[in-house]
Amino acid sequence: MNPTMLVAILMIPFFFLLLARRKVISQKEALLPSPPRLPFIGNLHQLGSIPHRSLYKLSKQHGPLMLLHLGSVRTLVVSSPKIVEEVIRNNDLVFATRPMSKLLDAMSNNKNDIAFAQYGESWRQMKKLARTHLLSSQKVKSMSFDRAEEVSLLLENIANETSRGNGVICLTEILNSYVTNVITRLVLGSWVTREKKALLSKLSHESSTLFYEVFFEDFFPNLKWLDVLRGSDRKLENYKKNWDTLFEEIIKNHGHESKEVNGKNNTYFMGTLLDLQHDSTLGVVLTNDQIRGLTMNMIIAGIDTTSTTLDWCMAELIRNPEVMKKVHDELRKVARGEDMISEELLGQLSYLKIFIKEVIRLHPPAPLLLPRESLQECQIQGYNIPKKTRLVINAWAFGRDESYWEAPEQFKPERFFDYTVDYKGKDFYFIPFGVCRRICPGMDFSMAIIEIALANLLHRFDWSLPSGITIEDMDMDEGGEVISFRKQKLELVPTASKVN
Ligand code: HEM
Ligand SMILES: *[C@@H]1O[C@H](CO)[C@@H](O)[C@H](O)[C@H]1NC(C)=O
Ligand SMILES: *[C@@H]1O[C@H](CO)[C@@H](O)[C@H](O)[C@H]1NC(C)=O
Repeated sequence: MNPTMLVAILMIPFFFLLLARRKVISQKEALLPSPPRLPFIGNLHQLGSIPHRSLYKLSKQHGPLMLLHLGSVRTLVVSSPKIVEEVIRNNDLVFATRPMSKLLDAMSNNKNDIAFAQYGESWRQMKKLARTHLLSSQKVKSMSFDRAEEVSLLLENIANETSRGNGVICLTEILNSYVTNVITRLVLGSWVTREKKALLSKLSHESSTLFYEVFFEDFFPNLKWLDVLRGSDRKLENYKKNWDTLFEEIIKNHGHESKEVNGKNNTYFMGTLLDLQHDSTLGVVLTNDQIRGLTMNMIIAGIDTTSTTLDWCMAELIRNPEVMKKVHDELRKVARGEDMISEELLGQLSYLKIFIKEVIRLHPPAPLLLPRESLQECQIQGYNIPKKTRLVINAWAFGRDESYWEAPEQFKPERFFDYTVDYKGKDFYFIPFGVCRRICPGMDFSMAIIEIALANLLHRFDWSLPSGITIEDMDMDEGGEVISFRKQKLELVPTASKVN
């Protein structure tokens, strides 16, 4: 929600607010660099419409470790890889948990998930299970058939859409529906209807927008009534109800999908999870609530992140014709007249891979990663950090840090030939998937979806801007949501590639 509006709303009951108890700031905390704050709302108004950019600017004035007060929530903002390294080396376990909130409770199916649950036994078991049984590179490979089919449908969809109107298509929407289709298929099976997919895509997106919609109860425990007044409570209830309806459908349907499709074993997650539920060798018993939480994670954490990455990739290719040419040249060498690029060929596309890295450096899909919270008191840079302090890592800022990247504003995939840096969490200045215990387990899964789509989109079609529109008209700003979409939708003209 718009922070100016937030301030405006707060002005009405301002007298009440001033009467509310003000927190006494302890001596030690006061020492931490901290931008001046307003009574009661603290620094909330400074988050701006694109929080990672506002926080980046604030860090230029107040340093790479700042303390903000978001309402009554003490939040530590880290804007330098060095400090992340210190936190992870000394206090990895301290910051391995997520904050609790009404919204995260809803998104985690009451803490029965991986992404939003607090650190503990249940989280540990589920993360391990997801890594070994759902998101391992072996499992990802086993699903190549399903991805190939969805990519064919994507190409067909583009051809259809192009022939329909004036040749201009909204690629942003087409890519989003490809990612929705492929993820719902890999997670739930192929029975999911078009309407259900639309609902799942909506829920994924809603999760991301709800994230920044301030829930007063979370920031100001005394102001629970404002949530009711502003309709946020009703929105959250609707959100939960939509998931309930979906899961009724999912439970009804999963049993009907045969295990074998086209002579291959069906590998979708729901089937695997239900098998695991009856697997006595597993050592733990997966509850229905955990299966539901895991499934919700895959949808919420998977769809928007993956589809926004693909969208930024295509936008950067259009903006950088010389990069587009190199990607094309590489593809031509590898494809040798094949109709479609198969996954076996992806290993030879090294330029395509560093191109994707460069896109994620400049446009990390989750610019502020996911919030963490301290389990106990600890020290960072000599400051005492109390228990229950929130930690926000500005990974977006890291990709632009001049002490790590040469000419960071330039789009130059070749830099990854020189640096051996990878996004697997070892190089603290490039952490679009997070770090350490809470690192994203879905990297291989999403890269497989992204690479095969990009390779074929560029193999099949040449892409250009609609007539009258130039590269300068492209707005590369992101919208202010927890998942950073490009604000402007990408409209392009595909023409069948002549090489084929
Ligand atoms: C380009 C795509 C993606 C990006 C950039 C991304 C990024 C992230 C980030 C930044 C985090 C938080 C890490 C932290 O707190 O340090 C995360 C967590 C997570 N992601 Fe992803 N993600 C992507 C795709 C996926 C996919 C496809 C899935 C699953 C199908 C997935 C599942 C998860 C889960 C379960 C977590 C929670 C891990 C935990 O809290 O322990 N992600 N992701
Ligand atoms: C493309 O159009 C054909 C003919 O109208 C239709 O049968 C097919 O389902 C469409 N494909 C996609 C992916 O929309
Ligand atoms: C499918 O899985 C079953 C049991 O795990 C196995 O016996 C069978 O050979 C598999 N079939 C294929 C085609 O992979």
